[in-house]
Amino acid sequence: MRLRVEPCADLGEFGDAVFAIGQYFAFDPTEERMERFSRNLPIERMHAARESKKIVGGAGAFPFEMTVPGGVVPTAGVTVVGTYPTHRRRGVLRSMMRAQLDDVHERGEPMALLWASEETIYGRFGYGMASVAGEIELPREYSAFARPLEREASLRFVEADEALELFPRVWNRVRRSVPGMLGRTRTWWELRILFASPAGGSEDGPKRLVVLEYDGRPEGYAIYRHKPKWENGVSNSELEVIEAIAYDGRPTAELWRYLFDIDWAARITASLLPVDHPLFFLLATPRRMRYRVFDGVWARLVDVGAALSARGYAADGTVVFDVVDEFCPWNEGRWRLSDGRAKRTTASAQLRCDVSALGSAYLGGFSFSELVRGGRVEELRRGAAARADAMFASTRAPWCPEIF
Ligand SMILES: CC(C)(COP(=O)(O)OP(=O)(O)OC[C@H]1O[C@@H](n2cnc3c(N)ncnc32)[C@H](O)[C@@H]1OP(=O)(O)O)[C@@H](O)C(=O)NCCC(=O)NCCS
Repeated sequence: MRLRVEPCADLGEFGDAVFAIGQYFAFDPTEERMERFSRNLPIERMHAARESKKIVGGAGAFPFEMTVPGGVVPTAGVTVVGTYPTHRRRGVLRSMMRAQLDDVHERGEPMALLWASEETIYGRFGYGMASVAGEIELPREYSAFARPLEREASLRFVEADEALELFPRVWNRVRRSVPGMLGRTRTWWELRILFASPAGGSEDGPKRLVVLEYDGRPEGYAIYRHKPKWENGVSNSELEVIEAIAYDGRPTAELWRYLFDIDWAARITASLLPVDHPLFFLLATPRRMRYRVFDGVWARLVDVGAALSARGYAADGTVVFDVVDEFCPWNEGRWRLSDGRAKRTTASAQLRCDVSALGSAYLGGFSFSELVRGGRVEELRRGAAARADAMFASTRAPWCPEIF
């Protein structure tokens, strides 16, 4: 099979390339839908794989800014990756990953990030599981807090146009301190987060938008939907929390109290919550959330030197890595990390690992000691893993509240 992978040139190609994954999600790439999508994913950032001029696969990358411990880093947000079922397991994905990572490298984005549909796909291309995410299903009768909470904030419904002004203010403050959170453009807010289909809501029901304020200052917001269901005259409805973001402390507690107290909800569900979510300590019976954990975002260091130098470190120290990177050989070899800078070195290596293990450690979600125990990092000098752990530690668990 002769394959060519190139960036899309127009909306028609873009639609054919997005259809590679769209078909698995049971959607058609209508012109209206693709026009909207292309306002967040620039057409030239969508690669199409062609065989004899026919598009048989697609892979896109959003231009993101990601919070990392101690800073923000330009990051390629890998998305809508798919191969037409007629051409599966013939190297289409591999060719697209090649073209995409070369492109990301040339653009100078040191990191790439993705949500994996299956955890077996992306390790071979240098991605490592970088966070975990959990979903909850809390019966409303078990939603009491451990400590009494007097309501001080006020809450009110807002329309999308007001949310577009208020929600980003909260998001932008919160995201600065949480690794894995992403910058959002106005278009992102408009067309993804607050978007309601012209028919008046999706099949799942309309999104409800609520802002939490103290003296008129927004310090939290929630997006949720009701899933009404009655059985034998009794409500068995679900309240699905799509996104609940608030400043730490009281605003977060008050926002969740509001969500848990909404009438008719038999249970409150939410997903993509980080492992260090305050609900574990706010709730009197956290076990009743039945928090179930999955792999969260996967990260790849596209440029090891630039990526390691772009984040901050929690402790002083020096560590020398020997990096194996078959797919992006420009990263291979020994790197000395000291004073927050990573440079090529001829010094003896202390930790040896595949680049995917660095992806797992990068946001502070997994420690090098864990990776040593899991067989993903080799400790060549005793104590090196513990030293690297202290340097890479993050006070907050990585959290990416949205699948992109
Ligand atoms: C996943 C998908 C993109 C793979 O595409 P493909 O063109 O068949 O993959 P390739 O032939 O290029 O395979 C490349 C390598 O990945 C492996 N691989 C591909 N899909 C895999 C999967 N689902 N699980 C495990 N390994 C997989 C192949 O065996 C091959 O391994 P090798 O490098 O050792 O030879 C394709 O099956 C697909 O479109 N799936 C549905 C949509 C989806 O899941 N997209 C990913 C969204 S995050």
